[in-house]
Amino acid sequence: MIAIRRARPSDAAAIGAVHVATWRSAYAGVLPDHYLANLSVMRHAAGYEQAVADRRNGHAVFVAIASGADAPPGHEWREGGVVIGFASGGRARRPGLAEGEIETIYVLDDYRDRGVGRRLMRAMAAHLAAVGCRSAMLWVLEANPTRWFYQRLGGRPVARESIRFAGQPLEQIAYAWDPIETLLAATAPAKEG
Ligand SMILES: CC(C)(COP(=O)(O)OP(=O)(O)OC[C@H]1O[C@@H](n2cnc3c(N)ncnc32)[C@H](O)[C@@H]1OP(=O)(O)O)[C@@H](O)C(=O)NCCC(=O)NCCS
Repeated sequence: MIAIRRARPSDAAAIGAVHVATWRSAYAGVLPDHYLANLSVMRHAAGYEQAVADRRNGHAVFVAIASGADAPPGHEWREGGVVIGFASGGRARRPGLAEGEIETIYVLDDYRDRGVGRRLMRAMAAHLAAVGCRSAMLWVLEANPTRWFYQRLGGRPVARESIRFAGQPLEQIAYAWDPIETLLAATAPAKEG
C-alpha cells in the first residue's frame, strides 16, 4: 500500500535521503557532478526537520509512505512504512504568479509512474486551497524532463527566468493552475493509476 500523509518531524531523515537520491538521479548532467556528489543526507534532514515543524505561511510537507508488499525489498514488515516520496509548499514565496506555491515534489525512481506524484500534487493542492490559496504555481528547471508531468496535470507556463544554481546559469519555468480547482480536478482520485 502507498499512503499520503502530513510529514512528522521523525520523517525528516527519510525525507533527506529521498531528496539526495532523487536529486542525484534527476539532475545528473544538469547540475555539476561535484555538487551532486557532495549532497548530504544529514544536512538536508536537518533542513526538512525545520520545514516540517514550521507551519508559518501555510507551509506543509507531505510524504508518500510505502508499506507491506509495496515497501522496498527487506522493509515489508517495517512498522509505519517507508518514505518513498514527498512534496512541500505553502503561500507563494514571491507575489505575482499565484497565491500558493509547490516548492518541492520528489518520488524515488522505483516508485515513479504509479500515480504517487499525482497524489502528492493533490495533497498539496487540497492543503493550499484549505489555507485560502485560490491559485497555485511551481518552478521547474527547463532542463528537467519531468516538467511534462506538470503540463499533463494542466499547468500553464506563466513565467521563465534565468537563475544561478551551484555556480552555473540555468533557466527555470513557472507553471500555474488558476483557479486552484483546475489542479484539484486534474489530480482527482478517479484518475489515479
Ligand atoms: C515528477 C515526479 C514527481 C512525477 O511523479 P510520478 O509518481 O512519477 O508521476 P505519476 O505516476 O503520478 O504521473 C502522473 C501523470 O504524469 C505523467 N508523467 C509523469 N512523468 C512524466 C514525464 N517525465 N513525461 C511525461 N509525462 C509524465 C504520467 O504519465 C501520468 O499521466 P497519466 O496518469 O495520465 O498517464 C517524479 O517523476 C519525480 O520525482 N521526478 C524526479 C524529481 C523531479 O524532477 N521533481 C520535480 C522537481 S520540480
